[in-house]
Amino acid sequence: MKNNVFIFDTTLRDGEQALPASLSVDQKIRIARQLARLKVDIIEAGFPVSSPGDFNSVNTIAKQIEGPVICGLARTVEEDIIACGKAIKPAKRGRIHTFIGTSAIHTKRKLRKSEEEILNIVTKSIKLARKWCDDVQFSPEDAGRTGIDFLCRIVETAIKSGATTINIPDTVGYTIPEQFGGIIQTLFDRVPNIDKAIIAVHCHNDLGLATANSITAVNHGARQVECTVNGIGERAGNAALEEVVMAIKLRKDLLHKTTGINTREIMRTSKLVRDLCDMPVQPNKAIVGGNAFAHSSGIHQDGILKAKNTYEIMTPQSIGLKENKMNLTSRSGSHMVKTRLVKLGYSDEEIDMENFYKRFIALADKKGTVYDDDLITLMESKNTSDLKDMFKLEYLNVSSGTGMIPTATVKISFNKKMFQEAACGDGPVDATTKAIDRVTGYTIELQDYHLDAITRGREALGRVKIRAKTDEGVFIGTGTSTDIVEASALGYMDVVNKVARMKKFGKKSSKKTNRER
Ligand code: KIV
Ligand code: ZN
Repeated sequence: MKNNVFIFDTTLRDGEQALPASLSVDQKIRIARQLARLKVDIIEAGFPVSSPGDFNSVNTIAKQIEGPVICGLARTVEEDIIACGKAIKPAKRGRIHTFIGTSAIHTKRKLRKSEEEILNIVTKSIKLARKWCDDVQFSPEDAGRTGIDFLCRIVETAIKSGATTINIPDTVGYTIPEQFGGIIQTLFDRVPNIDKAIIAVHCHNDLGLATANSITAVNHGARQVECTVNGIGERAGNAALEEVVMAIKLRKDLLHKTTGINTREIMRTSKLVRDLCDMPVQPNKAIVGGNAFAHSSGIHQDGILKAKNTYEIMTPQSIGLKENKMNLTSRSGSHMVKTRLVKLGYSDEEIDMENFYKRFIALADKKGTVYDDDLITLMESKNTSDLKDMFKLEYLNVSSGTGMIPTATVKISFNKKMFQEAACGDGPVDATTKAIDRVTGYTIELQDYHLDAITRGREALGRVKIRAKTDEGVFIGTGTSTDIVEASALGYMDVVNKVARMKKFGKKSSKKTNRER
């Protein structure tokens, strides 16, 4: 127990107060239930006096959520403390968290009170809170910028008045780790009754140091860390729960501390908070960002394939993710691409890696990231081309634009000879099919044309599906490319080759074209 760090989650209070739209009671209950599943020690459920809605949320959470201590926030004001006491009353274990500004900026400018007046207010408020609840937390707001002598006096007074937890907030995220650790250390060195309370920290992230400051404070004796899921909160947010918890878990070798958090619930909690709060998580966010377990560099991917810990300091499973993500790009090696194809269910015999890898690189160069559905499409298009096309589109150039007549030039190989034609049309696709017709001499009537984006991203692969009628029957052709005119040309060529095969091998074969003679 001595080495346990309590996790105090304030997503529903500090996090919620920074959202553009407040959460409904129902949404708060869903988050509180998940926080209980995550096994946080304390849930700060809201600020009961601030509105009837907030009172109701804290009160409902106190009634319904079992496991964590349910805490409510109150200024050092009688009305706040009474409202908070009432709201948390139904909880099996409740806590009142009361606070007042203690830095010179707060006492002189905001509160316009002397240090002695502040000390009296703290004493009275904590004594009142203790009448409602045995578990009382006190925070000297803006402690990070409070003179150390006054901070020591106020902490001693709060403990003497009955506070069981003293929380030291870096309210404006101004301190840096060594300095903040020093404040905590000084409190332990100078406050005579410090051992009668748990020392907590509450760090904001204005300089991006909230996690570092919290961890440094733990190293100097803090035993409760206040944090929020995904680091949401006032301005730049609070210390992120997932960062603090994983740092403590992973660096046990240095910190020698533990938490009671079920880390496998981290990802699920993060997604729930992201969705209900409508607060996106930046892709490169530590632990829970979309890229936190994604590898892009070919060198990294190769390393990961050989030994995961070359580039992963924790397993994706440890935070509740199924697996890491390998971003397939032109930097990915053929080993990586093949591994993904095998994962997608292709057997060694189906994969002609030398040929496939060239086509993969060509697509990756155009598209950037190649997704699984791109790979499947590439594999499928390879399989259909096994049927040996007779006509092959070697070159396509289309010019079109406002005030221009769309014109297409094609070069098509057939029987080892090259044929070139050009045509104008009503649009670039029409011009292209007419130019192809001029080469083949076929009469093909287009009955249906359908274009789908089949993969993601700006350079998504488009698939064109064409239904066409000829003397030989009705044929369906498909073509895939990042360029929709090229996809259309390939779809049309697919029809042409089916017609050619039918003419050569099929029953309906009739007249021969100039190219087939
Ligand atoms: O940042 C802060 O100081 C707070 C207090 C209410 C603890 O949120
Ligand atoms: Zn705060």
